[in-house]
Amino acid sequence: MLKDKMQKALNGQINKEMYSAYLYMAMSAYSESRGWPGFANWFFVQYQEEMEHAMRIYHYMQEQGARVELEAIEKPQLDFGSPMEMFQATLKHEQFITKSIHELVDLAIDLKDHATQIFLQWFVTEQVEEESNDHAILDKLSLMGAEGRGLYMLDRELGSRTYSPHTSDED
Ligand code: FEO
Repeated sequence: MLKDKMQKALNGQINKEMYSAYLYMAMSAYSESRGWPGFANWFFVQYQEEMEHAMRIYHYMQEQGARVELEAIEKPQLDFGSPMEMFQATLKHEQFITKSIHELVDLAIDLKDHATQIFLQWFVTEQVEEESNDHAILDKLSLMGAEGRGLYMLDRELGSRTYSPHTSDED
């Protein structure tokens, strides 16, 4: 059984993960419109991962007999500028999500909610990976350049990313 405060906070996190999915779908569509199919692929995979994050919380809440309450999802922007600007925005968003996950952990500790604390550990680790991926791509954009041949090479690399659902808490 979840405490009301925890239930409310997890409902809020479902909304943030759904917004993340929406944001990355918008970035995928934008990349497609700019003729960057590899970037479009990368963001589409990211969209799928974010949906999985939202569903992970959804199922945890169901398991705990909590009430899932879906809120409206904010409209993402249409234009994201250059690849560099788009990935800077991605990193900034992930830093915001990391902060939100850490606040959830703090709340679980305050409420002595051990089950939710353990449940959230997967997200803590996932956020380290997400931020690290964004840093790596930003570094490549700096090194290879965000236009011409460099952009072409990076677009090709990002085109090879595939979605593989996490099937357990270990992966
Ligand atoms: Fe669900 Fe990108 O954090």
